[in-house]
This record gives sequence, C-alpha cells and structure tokens, in this order.
Amino acid sequence: MEEKGFIFDLDGVIVDTAKFHYLAWKELANQLGVNFTEEHNELLKGVSRGKSLEILLSLGDVTLTDFEKEKYMKEKNIRYLAYVAKMDESDILSGIKELLLFLKQNNIPFSLGSASKNARVILEGVNLLEIFTAIVDGNDVSKAKPNPEVFLIAAEKLKLKPENCIVIEDAAAGIEAAKRAKMVSVGIGEEEMLGAADFLLSSTSKLTIEYAKGLLN
Ligand code: BG6
Ligand code: MG
Repeated sequence: MEEKGFIFDLDGVIVDTAKFHYLAWKELANQLGVNFTEEHNELLKGVSRGKSLEILLSLGDVTLTDFEKEKYMKEKNIRYLAYVAKMDESDILSGIKELLLFLKQNNIPFSLGSASKNARVILEGVNLLEIFTAIVDGNDVSKAKPNPEVFLIAAEKLKLKPENCIVIEDAAAGIEAAKRAKMVSVGIGEEEMLGAADFLLSSTSKLTIEYAKGLLN
C-alpha cells in the first residue's frame, strides 16, 4: 500500500482561534457601523484576511479605498495578535496533541495547511511549532481556499500523491479545496456547513488515534 499522510488546518482544528478573529473583526465592524454577529463570523472561516474584510464590508455595504483596507487589516491583525499572545498549550483542541505525537512517533507524515499568515506565531504560542516539520501557511500561497494550492504544496512537501493525503478541516472553503485537490477530507463541525466532506466528526475529540488509524487503512 502507498504511504498516506495528514494535512491539518490550523484555526478550528488545532486551536480555537475563531473567537479571537471575531472579537478583532467586531471592533472594526463597530467602527464602521456594520452589524456583525457570530453567525456572520462563520462566513469568515477558512478564508483569507483580505477576503474576510471584503465579506465584512459587503455586509454593511461599505466601500473603502485600498489604502484604508490595508490600514484596517493591519489594525485588525494587531488586535488579533494581542489575543493570540495569551494562548498556551491549554488552547490546543481536544485530542490533537495526542494525535500529532502518535503520528510523529510512528513516522506518519503530516503537514500544516493553513490560510493564516500568523500560523507560526500561533503554533509557537501553544508549543507545537517543533512537532511540525512541514508547514504551509498564508505566506506560502497566492490563491486562498477554496483554491487547492495550499494543500497541493503540502502534499509536495510530504512527497505524497494528493489522493494519499487526508485533510482535516473545519471550514466549508477548506473541504472544497481538499475536494479540488482530490484528497480525502474530514470535516470537523456541523453537517449543515460541511456536508461535502468525505467524513464528518462533530469535534476534534472524535479524531482519536484509532480513528486516524482507520483513515490510513
Ligand atoms: C484561517 C481562518 O485559518 O485564516 C480565517 O479560518 C482567517 O478566519 C484566515 O481569516 C487568515 O488568517 P490570518 O491569521 O492570516 O489573518
Ligand atoms: Mg479552519
């Protein structure tokens, strides 16, 4: 049998940072008078920072110059990083650390495949930077999810064929990207959002070592 491996999304799979993104975007929404709820925040999951801003602006029918957009994204990221700075190992989602250690100990290849430009800072904060030998993040790609670029680069880094890669994702855009890359996809979350995934788990606590072994066979 050919070798298989895993590609992990970061936000919502390894750590729960969606709440920090929400708080940081919410402040901008308030500044601009845009009604922005936690439900709206779902639309931002998995998509790039620039696309997130576009979605927020379209919710309030707000038009900005490119200069203003850059400025607001910078300010948003500074607020976001202030939350990130307080993260530690306790912010790793249930079962993930055990799974990564198991994969490492058994020489099963795995990579990060994230849209975030803050991926390394976050991994360092929760003490997982060392365990990842392959990282593909928002700094390495020119096309955001649902484009498959991020996962295809990860497969190359792992020296695996796309069809032998198993993507773990909590965002609809990420599941679509995995599909387009012809990879196996495991959705973490609700059927409503992630119905297109090959496998669906309600939370990372269900992504046990036994379950991962099953995916490899
Ligand atoms: C994704 C998040 O992982 O990263 C998105 O799900 C976020 O919500 C995107 O917009 C980009 O993140 P960052 O950290 O580069 O602003
Ligand atoms: Mg995610």
